[in-house]
Amino acid sequence: MSSLWSPFVNSLKPYVPGQQSATSGIIKLNTNENPYPPSPRVQDTLRQLDADFLRLYPDPESTELSACIASYHNVEAGQVFVGNGSDEVLAHAFNAFFRQDKPLCFPDITYSFYPVYCRLYNIDFKMIPLDDNFVIDWTRYPEEAGGIIFANPNAPTGIFQSADDIERVLQAHPNTVVVVDEAYIDFVKPDATGSDLSAIPLLAHYPNLVVTRTVSKSRSLAGLRIGYALASVELIDGLKRVKNSFNSYPVDAVASAVTQASFADEDYFQSTCQRVVDNREQLVAALASLGFASLDSSANFIMARHATRPSAEIYAALKASNVWVRYFNAPRLKDFIRISIGSADENAELLSSLKRILAVDN
Ligand SMILES: Cc1ncc(COP(=O)(O)O)c(C=O)c1O
Repeated sequence: MSSLWSPFVNSLKPYVPGQQSATSGIIKLNTNENPYPPSPRVQDTLRQLDADFLRLYPDPESTELSACIASYHNVEAGQVFVGNGSDEVLAHAFNAFFRQDKPLCFPDITYSFYPVYCRLYNIDFKMIPLDDNFVIDWTRYPEEAGGIIFANPNAPTGIFQSADDIERVLQAHPNTVVVVDEAYIDFVKPDATGSDLSAIPLLAHYPNLVVTRTVSKSRSLAGLRIGYALASVELIDGLKRVKNSFNSYPVDAVASAVTQASFADEDYFQSTCQRVVDNREQLVAALASLGFASLDSSANFIMARHATRPSAEIYAALKASNVWVRYFNAPRLKDFIRISIGSADENAELLSSLKRILAVDN
């Protein structure tokens, strides 16, 4: 608190990210980072960079990177907005679309940055409870919302809603901007029908839809800070107006080159996503044998609760063993620990620590 700050700053409740480790020897399963390195092409690109190109400011419009992302997702270049991590893209979206007379609606359990942006931009919001199975209950979303945002798969539940569900929401709210935060979409396992998992194909029909993505999770580039939004040209122009009133150059030249290298290596991308999905399935099964029930996650993390032992206690005991997971001391979440999916070795370390903590015989 300070009387020297703008008064509203005293009422902000900043987002608290999971702890980053300064020491080695930690099994770090607390911030949904990817256990596998970025594509080898990323390393090659970094090696080949000539420092002299940093003398100049980067392209304020990120033209090359936007074109690369547009071609990857089969949309027009004017439908892409790139920013310094999807957190920044989301912040601009809140500023550009949700400062309305009516409240913004989002689930009571969701990415905890959403209420933080609301307070920053003075946006009235309504948190609508997930149902008893932690699924979004669309019937409770008012027709005249000032905006709708949700993560799909949701965080921190990991629960996925089908593109059909999302289309129904768009049909019910044609005059409302609907943001679908697809930070974890690349970890959804395709179903047997091969139907679309992402909301991106819906962009062709719904000018009020925004889909946000990040390279932090599925592309193993959390340290780079690149995220993007795909939407109608009209909505992208709104994001650009906000961005150009804030920071002309949010995407640096190195990040732009490195992200393009990652998009050029589809085989590597697919194979690491598949490894994470396989590790998730194995971990869920192994946890079940230790007495944990997990929510049905389609993300690179799982929410698990033990049949008898309190989650806060398990979290603390794991931390003492240098295994970091996340614990949310919040209503409806305090019974769980959230575990980011690690490599096979990291998950094995986690399981052996849990066996010791729970005094299960090996
Ligand atoms: C649901 C969701 N959206 C967005 C983000 C932000 O990702 P980044 O800013 O790294 O792109 C996160 C990060 O944890 C997240 O969980």
